[in-house]
Amino acid sequence: MAFCRFLCLLVLLWLQGSVSAEQRWLSPENLLVITAATEETDGFSRFMRTAKEFNYTVKVLGLGQDWKGGDVARTVGGGQKVRWLKKELIKHSEKKDMVVMFVDSYDVIFASGPGELLSKFSRLGHRVVFSAEGFCWPDQRLASKYPEVHSGKRYLNSGGFIGFAPELSEIVQQWKYKDNDDDQLFYTRIYLDKTQRTKFNMTLDHRSRIFQNLNGAVDEVVLKFERAKVRVRNVAYDTLPVVIHGNGPTKLQLNYLGNYVPTAWTYENGCGICDDDLLFFDDVPDEEMPLVYIAVFIEHATPFMEEFLDRLATLNYPTARIRLFIHNNVVFHERHIHTFWERHKSLFPDARLVGPEENLQEDKARTMAIEACKKDPQCDYYFSIDSAVALTNPDTIRILIEENKPVIAPMLSRHGKLWSNFWGALNPDGFYSRSEDYIEIVQGKRIGLWNVPYISQAYMIKGSVLHSKLAQVSLYVNEAMDPDMVFCRSVRDQGVFMFVSNRDEFGRLVASSNFNTSRLHPDMWQIFDNPVDWKEKYIHENYSKIFEDEKSFVDQPCPDVYWFPAFSEKMCDHLVETMEDFGQWSMGSHKDERLTGGYENVPTVDIHMNQIGFEKEWLKFLKEYIVPITEKLYPGYYPRAQAIMNFVVRYRPDEQPFLRPHHDSSTFTINIALNSKNIDYEGGGCRFLRYDCNVESPRKGWSFMHPGRLTHYHEGLPTTKGTRYIMVSFVDP
Ligand SMILES: *[C@@H]1O[C@H](CO)[C@@H](O)[C@H](O)[C@H]1NC(C)=O
Ligand SMILES: *[C@@H]1O[C@H](CO)[C@@H](O)[C@H](O)[C@H]1NC(C)=O
Ligand SMILES: *[C@@H]1O[C@H](CO)[C@@H](O)[C@H](O)[C@H]1NC(C)=O
Ligand SMILES: *[C@@H]1O[C@H](CO)[C@@H](O)[C@H](O)[C@H]1NC(C)=O
Repeated sequence: MAFCRFLCLLVLLWLQGSVSAEQRWLSPENLLVITAATEETDGFSRFMRTAKEFNYTVKVLGLGQDWKGGDVARTVGGGQKVRWLKKELIKHSEKKDMVVMFVDSYDVIFASGPGELLSKFSRLGHRVVFSAEGFCWPDQRLASKYPEVHSGKRYLNSGGFIGFAPELSEIVQQWKYKDNDDDQLFYTRIYLDKTQRTKFNMTLDHRSRIFQNLNGAVDEVVLKFERAKVRVRNVAYDTLPVVIHGNGPTKLQLNYLGNYVPTAWTYENGCGICDDDLLFFDDVPDEEMPLVYIAVFIEHATPFMEEFLDRLATLNYPTARIRLFIHNNVVFHERHIHTFWERHKSLFPDARLVGPEENLQEDKARTMAIEACKKDPQCDYYFSIDSAVALTNPDTIRILIEENKPVIAPMLSRHGKLWSNFWGALNPDGFYSRSEDYIEIVQGKRIGLWNVPYISQAYMIKGSVLHSKLAQVSLYVNEAMDPDMVFCRSVRDQGVFMFVSNRDEFGRLVASSNFNTSRLHPDMWQIFDNPVDWKEKYIHENYSKIFEDEKSFVDQPCPDVYWFPAFSEKMCDHLVETMEDFGQWSMGSHKDERLTGGYENVPTVDIHMNQIGFEKEWLKFLKEYIVPITEKLYPGYYPRAQAIMNFVVRYRPDEQPFLRPHHDSSTFTINIALNSKNIDYEGGGCRFLRYDCNVESPRKGWSFMHPGRLTHYHEGLPTTKGTRYIMVSFVDP
């Protein structure tokens, strides 16, 4: 610190000594920033926010006026800006000490404050400085008339310039053209006229000391992180520009930089743009909460649909303030919609359901849903959610409203994967391109609100934006493109910013590609593709507690026989229903493969996992859920978790009520009760002869685990009434 203080003092002394007399009183009070904007676009608000953050004084010309300057993004134009400036600067033409900077605003942000700006301007040593770029625009024939530069960008860009008020005023007083004539051409002609250039002491900021035009220079610009600070740096010229201009086709690049600049952004706390305009609803009574149109799109068969629908009914948001729309395009899911509707219709009396029989295409359905909000002046927010979204955070709606952004998506990704519902960047064809920070955002290593070019699957749009900037736009329909691509492009084209937030955990995306709806309970097969959803649905809710509190959740009814919660009720039911639906119960038809090594032949009425195509999934279950328990309960034993004998056994008084004493041909056996004693059947249980120990009241979903060969000679006790089902697996035969 002491060293810095000494050094800083030296630098200060040097600065004061080197500044020419007339520029010594360059001070922020004498600086005026002028911009022109007819509309308060999101880009304009961003510009003003960065200006405010650095305490710039900004005069805005043209707000509320009709823009007559042409479509400057695609063609020439911009004369209207000069006309306004001409009128404004005449007021200041006598102020010798005043410095004026003109910048565009829709595609500009500040990266530093007035002090640094003025000191850099002063060091450039000219009365008027225009920004520079690598393209000679709009008249390339003028290129050869430019003075040579040995390093840096050669051509004038009029999106940013700074100078003393008298000179700038005199320059713009020469304007006598039409509003849609080109402003850049006007300034270029003056600059290229040697007499005028000398008279006004004009130069260009060739090396981006102040102005960074991004067009043609995207590769020269990097973000430089320093602990809690970030700065845009031009690595070609080793400069730290003060004004960043996303001109031409570089708007998305500016959006990317704008996620970090000018804020002192930290890895821990998210970005500073997040908290400056939050809304709060803590004390708002339910009936005064914003009205949210929620539109649900089931366009493809999707796993875990019942859970998806149930989450809609348990959102932490007053249902009286929700208008529900569901488009289901999948016949297989009609049963789920039906169940959901029977259960919850009283919550959503105004709901609109469109089923597959209406044959409505996705783009038309999305249009129908959003038009309802557009047409209703009371609609405060529109929330669109696709069936692949597991929205596990019930507060999502409220959180997204509070973030107060025009369009915002909750960040969602597939469990443990980089597949998500946003893109950080676009390639030139408008498709996915990975931004530098994509992985860190998906993995939650950078946290914040991110302005991105593409979002999908779940997002919220402000009603006010739908009622204004997006009112006349067809948001989904385009013959050549998918509705999600059309949507994002339409929103971008209107200059409306889309954000994705990873400031909260919202949920995840479900993978649907291997979802086989010809199975009775296809979710059972999702253990590989959607392991978290599978666990929530099919594993006993107390399974994980085995590892925290063994005493309460593992029993040892007989020596070395352990008993613990394994399956959920759903798993038990779905497995039994699948077996009964398959129906090919057989007795003893596979005794030889089961009873290797000279053990006895003990036939059962059963169906094997491989018969229903569930073997791979079952082995995965053993590895994920049974192996950790064996390692805990039989220390030193590391199962390979191979099991060739995996089957559901059915006991009935009139079929096969019991199993005579036998050994299992396994290292250990697991045996899971699939239904409930005294409800579904009577009798049953298991007796370990060597220990003279009976286990007579199995619990549905609980598993026994015991050694197989040699020690645990056992028999299945008779089932006296009803039907008993158990799942048996011989592990490591
Ligand atoms: C802006 O001004 C406020 C109050 O005048 C001051 O607290 C703040 O530090 C200033 N910010 C900068 C970046 O100079
Ligand atoms: C004009 O620019 C030159 C650099 O080309 C500089 O040395 C000079 O001081 C400037 N003149 C005035 C009057 O500012
Ligand atoms: C889908 O399930 C059916 C019936 O269970 C089965 O016959 C078929 O092989 C499965 N298809 C795939 C691709 O797994
Ligand atoms: C899980 O354990 C708790 C006691 O800790 C019990 O109240 C609850 O019923 C158990 N859940 C199931 C599905 O058995």
